[in-house]
Order: sequence, then structure tokens, then C-alpha cells
Amino acid sequence: MRNVYRILISISVAVLAALAQDPGRPEGAEEKGKKDISFSSDILPIFTKAGKCTLCHRGDNPSGLDLSPDKAYKNLVKVRSRQDPESFLVLPGEVEKSYLYQKLIEPGKEGTIMPPSGKLPDELLDKVSLWIKQGAKDN
Ligand code: HEC
Repeated sequence: MRNVYRILISISVAVLAALAQDPGRPEGAEEKGKKDISFSSDILPIFTKAGKCTLCHRGDNPSGLDLSPDKAYKNLVKVRSRQDPESFLVLPGEVEKSYLYQKLIEPGKEGTIMPPSGKLPDELLDKVSLWIKQGAKDN
């Protein structure tokens, strides 16, 4: 019986050692492996439907940011935030420096998290982050 345990333990140790040695995927492979996020079919529907952003962010509105489908891209990409003029709302490739993303995960410099009703599901946050990482294309 003791031998069986010994064998089982050696097998576990061998498996753990093999796992520990797995070099993992090279940096950036995860982003590259995922399919391209499309601004028009993945991101705009978050603004107009899932996140209900355009309930408030449409036309003239107190935030000053219009996210209507025909205006959202040009009002976001390489445009400075009103709340944090040192930041861009979307800086292609730089999620941490994109104030739009900051407002989706925390209140930012003023006001509340967006949407004010509560944080978006992770799946949608990941889409926004991946879209920015992939270069915030107008696709
Ligand atoms: C109920 C109305 C309302 C909804 C819904 C809403 N917002 Fe806002 N948003 C505001 C207001 C008001 C401000 C300014 C005050 C604040 O930040 O709380 C603002 C500010 C912002 C800013 C900062 C703009 C800047 O120039 O710095 C961003 C970015 C933003 N919202 C994105 C979004 C996104 C994306 C959604 C949807 C996921 C969303 N908002 C949903 C009302 C709303």
C-alpha cells in the first residue's frame, strides 16, 4: 500500500514540475489570438444598447460628450477628456491612458462610474479594452 502512495506522490510531483516549467504563451499572444473587435458591431452597440450610454450622451448634454453612432468615433479617439484634460478619452493601444476605460471601471476625476447605474459586465469591459489595445480602429 505504501508503495502505491509513493508512486502517486511521485506522479503528482512530476506533473507539478512539468506545469511549473511550462513557458506559457509569449507576451501579447493572448491579444493577438483573439479576433479583431469591430467598432461598429462590438463597441457602438454597448453605447446605444447594452450600456444605455446614449440615453444621456446624445446631442447637447451636460457631460459634453456625444456618443451617437455617427459621432462617437470622432468624439472619442485622440480627443481630450473634459474632466481630465491631460488624458485622451481613447488613446489607441493604451488602455490605462484612455479615460473612457477609466470611467468604466472607476469614477475617474469627477462624478461617477459610467454608466451611473453600475459597472458594465466584464465581458463588455474586455471588449472595450481589447478594442483600444488593438489600435482603436474605425472598423
Ligand atoms: C444617466 C446619464 C448617463 C449615462 C447612462 C451615461 N453617462 Fe457618461 N456621463 C454622464 C454625466 C452627467 C457625466 C459627467 C459627470 C460624471 O462624470 O459623473 C458623464 C461623463 C462621462 C465621461 C467623461 C467625459 C469627459 O470628457 O471626461 C465619459 C467618458 C462617459 N461619461 C462615458 C459613458 C459611457 C461609455 C456610458 C455607457 C456605458 C455612459 N457614460 C453612460 C451621464 C451619463
